Amino acid sequence: MKPTVFLTRQLPPAVMERLARETDLAWQREDRVATRAEVIAGMKGRQALFCNILDQVDGELLDACPGVKVIVNFGVGFNNIDVAAATARKIPVTNTPGVLTDATADMTFALLLAVARRLGEGERIIRANKWVGWQPLQLLAADVTGATLGVIGFGRIGQAVARRAKAFGMRVIYWNRGAVREPIAFEATRMSFESVLRQSDFVSLHVAYNSNTHHLLDEPQFALMKPTAFVINTARGAVINEAALVQALQTKRIAGAALDVFEREPQITPGLAELENVVLAPHLGSATIGTRTQMGMIATDNLLAVCAGRRPPNCVNPEALA
Ligand code: DGY
Repeated sequence: MKPTVFLTRQLPPAVMERLARETDLAWQREDRVATRAEVIAGMKGRQALFCNILDQVDGELLDACPGVKVIVNFGVGFNNIDVAAATARKIPVTNTPGVLTDATADMTFALLLAVARRLGEGERIIRANKWVGWQPLQLLAADVTGATLGVIGFGRIGQAVARRAKAFGMRVIYWNRGAVREPIAFEATRMSFESVLRQSDFVSLHVAYNSNTHHLLDEPQFALMKPTAFVINTARGAVINEAALVQALQTKRIAGAALDVFEREPQITPGLAELENVVLAPHLGSATIGTRTQMGMIATDNLLAVCAGRRPPNCVNPEALA
């Protein structure tokens, strides 16, 4: 018997083909977030809820879907799921770590370079037909080579960003709340959170979002940073207090920001989009064909494992399996 699955939104073709082959699949067919009512109706008589980072899964929803055996999240971040509520109901929750590390690190570096070298401003000049030709003083930017990168959260993605920084001749310093699990194969200096903020020319955020990291960067933290420093966020929007960020940028407390994630996606905090010293991207960190396909494949591996009574490769609440 194939496992019965409700998928909240269509995924890349290779993943859809595999799901159609290996599961009994129903899915929400429009290219938008599924409503709660659609999820509840879709989950009737089904075992696996295959959701994504925009689907809010809480105890109330789980109680309305009594047959749910596994929650399969399409994403490494799982702050959209009330994991405690799932664990209390003995429902394993899985995610997709590892496969999006390089794509997210590439995106982080793209943002770092774009904000440092003022690419958005340059592009806007050209598109507005305002470019009058090369000028010795136009859009003079910050140097990347030789600058200090401060990585906040030194897990897989943070380290992948740091490796890229080393190739650009940057000094790497970092802060991590607990022990660093992955072996570090390059020179990087661990410091207190405050020292990283004080010393960095670029501060890049790579922590998971939870109650400990909510507004990790707020007014007091911006006050510690150099006025020439930039913030890059490819983690989760609410790691930054966006209103405080807007103020820090408007008052030139810091030099700029490059953001792929936002506190209230898809809304952008008023003032942010008007600032020249900001680069904005619509949550594209893992958005490559290869990465999104691999995310779907390992999510499917997780799903099939739980439904076959095996341990899933990526369970965020293993206590639910006991
Ligand atoms: C994740 O996986 O958590 C990303 O933010 C979306 O791909």
